Amino acid sequence: PVSQPIKHFLQFSDFTRDEFEYVIQRATDIKRKFKAYEVYHPLVDRTLVMVFEKSSTRTRLSFEAGMHQLGGAAIYLNTRDSQLGRGEPVEDAGQVMSRMCDIIMVRTFGQEIIERFAAHSRVPVINGLTNEHHPCQVLADIFTFYEHRGPIAGKTVAWIGDANNMLYSWLQAAEVFGFHLNVSTPKGYDLDPSLVSTDRYTLFDNPSDACAGAHLVNTDVWTSMGYEKENAERLKAFDGFIVDSAKMARATPDALFMHCLPAHRGEEVAAEVIDGPQSVVWDEAENRLHVQKALIEYLLLGRLEDK
Ligand code: CP
Ligand code: NVA
Repeated sequence: PVSQPIKHFLQFSDFTRDEFEYVIQRATDIKRKFKAYEVYHPLVDRTLVMVFEKSSTRTRLSFEAGMHQLGGAAIYLNTRDSQLGRGEPVEDAGQVMSRMCDIIMVRTFGQEIIERFAAHSRVPVINGLTNEHHPCQVLADIFTFYEHRGPIAGKTVAWIGDANNMLYSWLQAAEVFGFHLNVSTPKGYDLDPSLVSTDRYTLFDNPSDACAGAHLVNTDVWTSMGYEKENAERLKAFDGFIVDSAKMARATPDALFMHCLPAHRGEEVAAEVIDGPQSVVWDEAENRLHVQKALIEYLLLGRLEDK
């Protein structure tokens, strides 16, 4: 089946503010239905294929459970036991998979891999994380912010950690939603300007200063997937970048703490923060399910009010 026109979600900037507002509104409704055990099956007989070239707990579970809850089916493929691991070109994989299913999620290494895959797909492709972007997570995080604090426009979000996929997606979100990012990265792990197309951010050498006045403090694992060889070196370079209660005390009194998970207590975040009252990490994880169901619904069925 071919849904026309095809729209992909390969990076955060692929959607407009208006589209995100729609998806968030649908996520709210879909979440309410889920909590009320209401059967909602708009995608009977539709199939999602999920391609994983990296590990996952939340992404796999939320997409697979979400597709099932929408009345469809999800199929998991990984590099190890599909032909992708034996060198089948991604262009060919995109052609073949998109002739057998309705929508595809890909988690891979370089962004160019998912771009090539999508260019050869007849159906929508969703980025489930690449080295450069993690748009579904940031969408879930913004939905989580809306639930706890209302609109994020005009707010200040602190990013403490390296310039990784999460930060680049947050920077795109800052441009789309109109908020500001205070960014503090360890020396040598700073932003690549070629990947940034917004001026809605300020750089801070001192991570504590970046938290000052923030409405949300955000961090992530110090060694992202694919960079494991740098782990020992990173542990040294990131010294002082832990988000602890002293840093949270610099933020606004009702600041939220977010982390996309998995987390490492005692490295990027202190237990007192991630397990404390300002932390909304479990809501972020749960909301992956709800926003991605809304995202899939939108990519396959368009705006329901248009029908
Ligand atoms: N946050 C996130 O994407 O988690 P997984 O790696 O477990 O999918
Ligand atoms: N930056 C992390 C996010 C994990 C969900 C990584 O890429 O490994």
